[in-house]
Amino acid sequence: MSDIQHLLSIDDLGDNLRSVLEWAIHFKQDPDTDYDFKPLDELSIGCIYEKPSTRTRVSFEVGIHKLGGQALTLLKGDIQMGKSESVADTAAVLSRFLDGITYRCYGHDMVTTLSENSTVPVINALSGKHHPCQAAADLMTIMERNPTLEGERVAWVGDGNNVLHDLMLACAMLGVDCIWAVPAGCEPADDVVERAFEIAKNTGAKMIETNNPVDACMNATIIYTDVFISMGEEHLSDKLAAFDGFQVNEELVSHANEDYGFMHCLPAHRGEEVTDAVIDSPNSIVFDQAENRMWAQMAILTYLCNPAAFDAYDELY
Ligand code: CP
Ligand code: NVA
Repeated sequence: MSDIQHLLSIDDLGDNLRSVLEWAIHFKQDPDTDYDFKPLDELSIGCIYEKPSTRTRVSFEVGIHKLGGQALTLLKGDIQMGKSESVADTAAVLSRFLDGITYRCYGHDMVTTLSENSTVPVINALSGKHHPCQAAADLMTIMERNPTLEGERVAWVGDGNNVLHDLMLACAMLGVDCIWAVPAGCEPADDVVERAFEIAKNTGAKMIETNNPVDACMNATIIYTDVFISMGEEHLSDKLAAFDGFQVNEELVSHANEDYGFMHCLPAHRGEEVTDAVIDSPNSIVFDQAENRMWAQMAILTYLCNPAAFDAYDELY
């Protein structure tokens, strides 16, 4: 089982992250690919959701279809897992039918357990700790504006959450500077930050932590925020008070480069972490980001479920 490659955090793509993003951009730019290249032909991918989803669910279903595969969406209420069957047994059973599994869950340990007991690739479709598919789409979106990524300075303003974790790792992996401003008590996980610093040592990316949103946004090329209360944290609504001064509004973005891009993984709580004026401004690239979830996941699926086709890129194109 250990030979199967999974995607639990963006770190799992290692040196292949850049190739995955090049594939993703290729899928988006070359319409012929949609019709001629079917790396998931005859393959079936199960997509399990314990939490709601709009972008992830639709982008996986449509992307799998475009690659010639079959997507089976499995909502938690409809399957035995977590009720009369363990995650481990479910993984073993699904592996007999499927060629890949995507899983959106609460605790990150759930997707880890699923991967440890699966004989087919498992893709984390968001856990409480990581959101690798989002990070792949995010860096693809930045690469579309700046293919070399040189000179990028990504500023995160908000909670130290799952989306930030994979964003900082992806920036570190690609040599992109990343500065995150989070309130005291809402810091990202120590082990993820340590790993980002470790990777950045080799790539030269600057990783900077601060509690000051203005410092983060100063000369930023990208400003990124997310909801202050993530799925599964609804009982922590008191946490909102900590985000006074962390709303991305016109005053805050005035410190960024004039042509900065505003990013948000969506769904956005307009008027809370971001104002309408910012998310609806010409600088906003949130809907490109959302679209890019599909192209990035198509590249990830090809890489994990049909590595030979992925490696044939140079011959094919
Ligand atoms: N960004 C994201 O993962 O969106 P969904 O929750 O709609 O899938
Ligand atoms: N941090 C958010 C991301 C949603 C796509 C959450 O986990 O709810």
